Amino acid sequence: AKPRVYITREVNDESMNLLKQTCDVSVWSGSAPVSKAELMKNLKDSQALFCTLSDKIDKEVLDVATNLKVIATMSVGYDHLDVAEIKAKGIRIGYTPDVLTDATAELTVGLLLATSRRLFEANEAAKTGGWSSWSPFWMCGPGLSQSTVGVVGFGRIGQEVAKCLKPFNLKRLTYYNRSERKEAKEIGADKVDFNELLTESDFIVVTCALTPETKNLFNQEAFKKMKKSAVFVNTSRGGVVDQPALVEALQTGEIWGAGLDVMTPEPLPLDDPLLKLKNCVILPHIGSASIQTRNKMGLMTAQNIVAVFKNEEMPAELIV
Ligand code: GLV
Ligand code: GLV
Repeated sequence: AKPRVYITREVNDESMNLLKQTCDVSVWSGSAPVSKAELMKNLKDSQALFCTLSDKIDKEVLDVATNLKVIATMSVGYDHLDVAEIKAKGIRIGYTPDVLTDATAELTVGLLLATSRRLFEANEAAKTGGWSSWSPFWMCGPGLSQSTVGVVGFGRIGQEVAKCLKPFNLKRLTYYNRSERKEAKEIGADKVDFNELLTESDFIVVTCALTPETKNLFNQEAFKKMKKSAVFVNTSRGGVVDQPALVEALQTGEIWGAGLDVMTPEPLPLDDPLLKLKNCVILPHIGSASIQTRNKMGLMTAQNIVAVFKNEEMPAELIV
């Protein structure tokens, strides 16, 4: 019999067709994420799981999934997976690095500019009668040219963001990363310590992974160290930010503004204080959402699964 693969969301035809050649495919067709109970029911006799970052794969789920050989997540982030537990059970893990680097960097630059140049606020004003005349200092925000940008987490995405920002005539580009990155020299980014990045940056861009070391890295103390004119942009994971501390920093003018593609929880409840702040731009976790990239991510996830059953090398196996 063909191995059974459970897919937690409807995906592109190309991925489905590839999977169907070697597997029996079963798909959760709801428009909201599958419930934990439904997921567990389906995993009992599945050999493969195709999941997304909204599926939390913890010990409880894994304990019923006794036939599972591979978990492939359609994401580069894997903080939703209990990696230690999965590895202990001998289950392989696939993910989607590289194919989403350009799309996520594009979105990060767009969000940075949308925040600093107040694009959504200005658009809203133009559409709702708030535009009374051209006015010398109306809708002004900090310029990127001649500014200092600090990138936190200098992996594939952080480096690509840095390369995209270079042509904006920055004064200085810096990064903070656990280890020194050899690529930084060519990009023209200087390694600084976290404190210097906080105190010296006009724009702080976060692209690091969520790990025990980065959880709540941006706390009250960190926001207090930032310039009052600073723009904070996060396209990594909401968990790297102490969110009540960010709300306070935005409310009291401790920082100038924030652009967030990720937050806690997701989706953000409509009564969340972040949504009431004019100096905060909120996007619904669309960093990798270019048509080309999402198709590539779907396909790579399918290829990761197929490779396991064909005893071939996975295109992107998570090795930790
Ligand atoms: C998106 O956030 C991803 O991890 O792919
Ligand atoms: C992943 O974390 C990346 O930077 O690509």
